[in-house]
Formats: sequence, structure tokens, C-alpha cells
Amino acid sequence: MTVEVAERPHFKTQSLEGYHSMGLKATASEFFLIHTKHQLAPLWREGWFDRRPVLLGEGTNTVFITDPKRPVCKIAMKGIRISDESESSVRVQAAAGENWHQLVTWAVAQNYGGIENLALIPGTVGAAPVQNIGAYGVELSDVFEELEAFSMKHGTFKTIGREECRFGYRSSLFKHGEPEWLICSVSIRLTKDHHKLSSSYQSLETYLEKLGIQTPGIGDLYQAVCSIRKSKLPDPKILPNCGSFFKNPVISMERFRHCKSMFPDMPAYPAGDSTAKGHVKIPAGWLIEKAGWKGRRKGGFGMYRQHALVLVHFGGSGGGELHAFMEEVTGAVLNLFGIQLEPEVHLIGDTIIPSTQT
Ligand code: EPU
Repeated sequence: MTVEVAERPHFKTQSLEGYHSMGLKATASEFFLIHTKHQLAPLWREGWFDRRPVLLGEGTNTVFITDPKRPVCKIAMKGIRISDESESSVRVQAAAGENWHQLVTWAVAQNYGGIENLALIPGTVGAAPVQNIGAYGVELSDVFEELEAFSMKHGTFKTIGREECRFGYRSSLFKHGEPEWLICSVSIRLTKDHHKLSSSYQSLETYLEKLGIQTPGIGDLYQAVCSIRKSKLPDPKILPNCGSFFKNPVISMERFRHCKSMFPDMPAYPAGDSTAKGHVKIPAGWLIEKAGWKGRRKGGFGMYRQHALVLVHFGGSGGGELHAFMEEVTGAVLNLFGIQLEPEVHLIGDTIIPSTQT
């Protein structure tokens, strides 16, 4: 971990264009960086957290639709350390401001397994538990042990365990209710046992089969996931985007049977959540493609030609236009299937936030 020295944060007016990967123009009237957790209690005593700052990692899942009225606080705490080790596993504690993919790359280089399938997911370590990041059959919750968070309500630190995090599909405690917690670090348990790796996700299995790899190691999985992601997901530095823009909707079996009678090729997966019994998850990318929006552009926005679930920004457009574009795409899916898509990204704005978002 870095040496933690209490210091005053740097407050200033800041353009947010480079601080969220969708790259819309927006300005924070007050912006500051948190480098160490020792900055937090003094700020709390000054009543600063009463103003409900927007917490920002790398802004890869946050879209500023308008200038935020609230202050913006970028979490920039750094450090990775092994906090416990046994013969078969290690516990790794990483600070919230670390880049997630760099943590994965570090783990793979040490030969520690568990997060290689989560390679190239954009964003920071601190943002990972918020939406329980997941890809290729693995979710953060599979390796998660605990996290340390600062209560913006009470001004105290707390260790929060896995049960309390209430992880679900792209969801957790941190996505619901009044925002209370500022995540400072995350601890995950990684394995030294290479038999416990997960390679059964369809596209991953197919890719490995093509390479003739039958028992993939950590490095094989990492390379495969990186290649697959690079081949179908656009690099936000070249074409601004937030990865999957909508969640894969979970629908009732009844609706599924109805849709299937009209679209026999409609794919469905287990909803993967005990609260969703009698439900299935439908790939939103498939719905959007069927509704005719894959590779289609309107003004400054479009649904990516290689993957219909990724909304891309061709540049120069604002939040109003994005909102209108979202309405068109979700409207087309609703008309065709009777299924309402919901954003997976966190939309921040004063007037046009969809009802499901904070
Ligand atoms: N599909 C289409 N057309 C498309 C795209 C997808 O028909 O243009 C259908 C195909 O049937 C495909 C299925 O959708 O088999 C699933 O596609 P994919 O494997 O790409 O997964 P996804 O459900 O679209 C989720 C995550 C991704 C993650 C992948 C891989 C969500 C919202 N997204 O996408 O996460 O990389 O699985 O595991 O759950 C992200 O969150 O930003 C993200 C990229």
C-alpha cells in the first residue's frame, strides 16, 4: 500500500469530458481527488459529505448527461498487497483507485487464479463490487471476501463482508437506497489451484477449442478473454463507450414462452439469482439486433456494429441527444418484444435520469 498522508483535496472547476468514457461534455463546479483514506474524516467533519458528492472511479460506467449540481469526487487511492496466504490460496487487498485490468494482469503474472476471466473489464477496483462486475462465467462475488468502506453518513470506517454486500446480477447493496458507502479497498481470495478455473462459457470454450487447448491455464484464459473482448468490444479511447449499455433483462417464463412462439430462435439463460425463480435472462444484444439497431447510427450515437449491446458515441453530442437515442432503441425493443430495457450504466443528470437510476 502507498504511505497514507492526510492532505487537503484539490478543489476546482473541472471539465468531465476526459473523466467518463462516454466523453459527453459536462463540467463539475467542484471536483477533487481522494488519494488516501485519511482525507475522508476531516472532510466529513466539515460537513462536506452532506452535499452527496458523485463518486467517480475511471468513469467507465458513469455518464454525465448534464453538468452535475453535486461535487464530483474522484477516488484515486492506490496499492495492492497480499494480506493473507495459505498453501492453496492468497488474499489480495487492492485499493479502490487501482485499475481493475492491471490488478487482473498482476494476478495472472503471479499465477493466482480466479479473476482471469474478468480481464479487460474497464474501470477501477472500487467500482467492481458496486455492480458486481462479471464476464465469461465469473463474477466478482465468486472471489470477493470483504471490503473496507467509509460511511458518508456517520464518518466511520467499516469492513463489509460478502453477505452484507447482497451481490446479484450487476447489482449489490451499493446500488440501492441512499448512497452511504465510499469504498476504500477490496479484498479478494485467489487460488493457487489451477483445477478450479472457469472455462465453460460458450464463446470462451469455442475459442479455446479452436486453439486446441483442452486444459487451459490461467494465462490461456486471460489471453483468450483479452482476444475475444478486443475483437468485439470497441476501445473507449478510440470510440467512446461504456461497454454494455443496457442490462440483460430478466423476464418471466410466461413472457418468454410468448416471445418464443413468435421468435423461435430467441436465446435465454438461467436468471442465475434465487430471487428470480421462474424467470430467464435474455441477451439484450440479441433483442437490439433483432429490433434492427445493430450497427445503426443516429446523429452522434450508435449501437456498435460488432456488438449491439454497446452504445458508442461518435463525438460532439450531448446528453439530450443521448437520451433521445436511448428512447428510440428501448422503444423499438419494447414494441417488438414487450420487454423494457434498463440502462446498466449510471446516468447522472438533473432532469432526464430514467426512473430506475439514482
Ligand atoms: N448477441 C446478439 N447480437 C449481438 C450481441 C450479442 O445476438 O450483437 C447475443 C448472442 O446470442 C450472444 C449473446 O447475445 O450469444 C450473449 O452475448 P455476449 O456473450 O457478448 O454477452 P452479453 O450478455 O451481451 C455480458 C456482459 C458483458 C460481458 C459478456 C461476456 C451484461 C450486461 N454484459 O454481455 O459485460 O463481457 O457478457 O461474459 O451482462 C459490460 O458489463 O460492460 C460487459 C461488456
